[in-house]
Amino acid sequence: MSVLLLCIVVAVPFLALLVLLPIIKNKMTGSGMLGSKDIPGLKSQNTKNGNLDLVKKRGSLHEFLIWLHQQYGPIAKFWLGEQMAVSIASPQLFKETSRMFDRPEVLMHIFKPLFTEHAIPFANKEDGKWRRNTYDPSYSHGSVMRCIAKFQTLAEELVEKWSQTPRGEHIPCRQEAFLFTLKAITQASLGDYFLDEEQIIQFLKAYDVCWYDMEERLTGDIPQPGSEREKKFNNANKYMKERLAAAIDLRRKTPTTEKREMLIDVLIENNIPDDMLQGELISFIIGGFHSSGNLLVWALHFISVYTVVQEKMFQEVKAVLGDTGKVTPDNIAQLVFIRQVMDETLRVAVVAPYAGRYDDEKDVKLGDYVIPAGTPILYALGVVLNDPTCWPNPKKFDPDRFSPEKVSERHPYSFQPFGFAGKRKCPGYRFAYAEVATALANILLRFQVHEVKGQKVKAKYGLVTTPEDEVWITLTERSSNN
Ligand code: HEM
Repeated sequence: MSVLLLCIVVAVPFLALLVLLPIIKNKMTGSGMLGSKDIPGLKSQNTKNGNLDLVKKRGSLHEFLIWLHQQYGPIAKFWLGEQMAVSIASPQLFKETSRMFDRPEVLMHIFKPLFTEHAIPFANKEDGKWRRNTYDPSYSHGSVMRCIAKFQTLAEELVEKWSQTPRGEHIPCRQEAFLFTLKAITQASLGDYFLDEEQIIQFLKAYDVCWYDMEERLTGDIPQPGSEREKKFNNANKYMKERLAAAIDLRRKTPTTEKREMLIDVLIENNIPDDMLQGELISFIIGGFHSSGNLLVWALHFISVYTVVQEKMFQEVKAVLGDTGKVTPDNIAQLVFIRQVMDETLRVAVVAPYAGRYDDEKDVKLGDYVIPAGTPILYALGVVLNDPTCWPNPKKFDPDRFSPEKVSERHPYSFQPFGFAGKRKCPGYRFAYAEVATALANILLRFQVHEVKGQKVKAKYGLVTTPEDEVWITLTERSSNN
């Protein structure tokens, strides 16, 4: 009996140690739990920067992730400064994490001075879910359909302005696309405050100053306190916030009896405090015009090169819009090929290259791997959008990849340009498709779009992918019988 007791007293702690040691070790080194495989990937190059020097060397986080996954496969770890992160790049791994809601701060903290810390991109858990439930109806299918007439008017104004351009003169496509999408989102989200073209241009200029500075910060280039660069950023940022404060003020003073579904009204009705109110509006406006503006620029660029695609779009627009020549809530869903072109543009241009999630309470089990609680998980959306195993000859622009038959053959998570996880997909995806489709339909009905020969259009990958320089196009007016 006493021998048995001795065995128990000695053996139990020994066995417990055997079981616990690997777990403790794994927690300390960033590898998985007992029975799980080590996550492949990089060691930290130095404790302060982690692998950020490698990110810089590759040019951007997206280009770094392409390289990382080529080296290590669909799941790979690396170090964002002192923080280990795990990037995943396969439709199956996306699916397995598709219930996660919380976004890790490390991905977005650089953008805090612009969005403000009170804004939705930084909200997690019940607070984040409440905000999404409360704001999402402003960009639901029904709300977007009620915006189509607005998009149509803006598209007509754009086309009218372009028709005044002397024949053969180059059009600055990026600037024009951004003005269009900025007008669309401000009018749809703020009401009538931003109707003046000059004000919109000033807002866009201030935004450009801020955004380029933020993108520099993403590669580790932070402005010196008190430097000219910092002052320039602060002034531009202040200008945008003042314009928003004026819009909020005007809306508060505008009495109405109609049901209000606009974001600004929803925020006011819910007594959202002023600093948070500004943060939410700036997040939706920037989210709303920058990515969609880039979708429009890239689409115009691609169709100026792929003229057969452009002709097919024109034939569709002519047939669908008929004699009225207007996009309406009744006909927009019939612009099926235009939708295919927008999807192929989102894929080839990789308009939004990544998103991210984390679980700060529990380890995340992914196949044979366990990701320790609190580790940022990056969704390498752009890597998957150009993965040759999902998309043969991925660099080729081919909207037929999105024909219904081809779509049904693919894993549904292979095309997720708006994110997918935890019901936190981009809230503005319907809005983006509708405004860009309306712009494209109106442009194509009136003009043939040509590339400027010799122009090299190069992508700059940041939080959003934008052309490195202005994209120029030329137009010829279609005669009424072609
Ligand atoms: C082509 C156009 C667009 C693309 C590619 C795009 C892409 C994305 C992506 C990938 C995310 C991250 C989603 C995630 O974490 O799972 C996101 C978030 C967001 N987008 Fe968009 N977006 C576009 C247009 C818009 C529009 C038109 C709006 C406004 C109406 C908008 C507002 C936002 C906001 C506010 C968030 C943050 C939501 C949150 O934190 O829960 N986006 N977008």
